[in-house]
Amino acid sequence: MEAATRLRRIYIVFGILWTLTESIVPGARSMIPSFDTSSPVNVTAQVGSYAYLTCRVRNLGNKSVSWIRKSDAHLLAVDKESFIADTRIIVVHSAVHDTWTLQIRGVKSSDTGDYECQVSSEPKISRIVSLSVVVPTIEIKGDPDIYVMAGSSVNLNCVITGYIDEPAFVLWRHHGKETVQTVISSDSTQIRRQPPDVLISSLKISSASHDSAGVYICHPTSLSPTNVTLHVLNGEQPAAMQDGQKSLSPSINGLSLSLSICLLALLLL
Ligand SMILES: *[C@@H]1O[C@H](CO)[C@@H](O)[C@H](O)[C@H]1NC(C)=O
Ligand SMILES: *[C@@H]1O[C@H](CO)[C@@H](O)[C@H](O)[C@H]1NC(C)=O
Ligand SMILES: *[C@@H]1O[C@H](CO)[C@@H](O)[C@H](O)[C@H]1NC(C)=O
Repeated sequence: MEAATRLRRIYIVFGILWTLTESIVPGARSMIPSFDTSSPVNVTAQVGSYAYLTCRVRNLGNKSVSWIRKSDAHLLAVDKESFIADTRIIVVHSAVHDTWTLQIRGVKSSDTGDYECQVSSEPKISRIVSLSVVVPTIEIKGDPDIYVMAGSSVNLNCVITGYIDEPAFVLWRHHGKETVQTVISSDSTQIRRQPPDVLISSLKISSASHDSAGVYICHPTSLSPTNVTLHVLNGEQPAAMQDGQKSLSPSINGLSLSLSICLLALLLL
């Protein structure tokens, strides 16, 4: 038998086998890994929350999936094995969805940047996912020091802006105690929303007394706290005001008091 004929026969046998593999195991011939491009390439997460960067690979076969942080070229994980000391960062694999999700717990602003999902195929394929971190602002409207006369009412407004995950509740602390722990409603506080992403938590002190004085901390869950100091004036001047630095002119004080009385009188009429 000629060498060429033998070679042709081998080819034919090989061809039959190849066709058989395809009919027994569909897709066996096209076992080339590829990315599912429907997963987002731009991910936004709020500081302190979780970020999920999804990489979905089809036909992975026995290849590996790695995640690399582009900012410092740090290898974060290969398959499910972690390669970083930072325990906030792990890879969660779902065999059902073919996903290799990079999960970052307690996201920080410094986590912002590009992350590369790489498949060890020949040639290598990779997909970049960008993470942006949103930091909401929390402020109590007005001066950091509030001066009121004893008996007057005070409204403290804590304004939370630019969030994506609405805080579950807003905690107000006074004298180190959680005097008013508030969720959406209570007698002395209320929360209102101003679309798209402004939340205002108001704390109302109906009649300020010496006990009402001090630092008030507004602490929305999973966000940073902020505070104001309430000074309650009792007719006589408190020690803090006698050092001359923050002196409140008694005449102006008297003036605003008489103005309030006039206003009250007008309202009563
Ligand atoms: C992702 O963000 C980049 C930069 O902000 C932008 O150019 C790109 O269009 C975004 N891609 C998608 C799919 O939204
Ligand atoms: C993957 O499988 C192929 C055969 O199916 C084998 O030749 C190769 O060595 C395997 N690679 C790894 C990294 O196990
Ligand atoms: C109040 O806020 C200031 C400035 O953010 C901070 O330095 C201070 O420690 C806070 N005070 C309390 C009691 O939390």
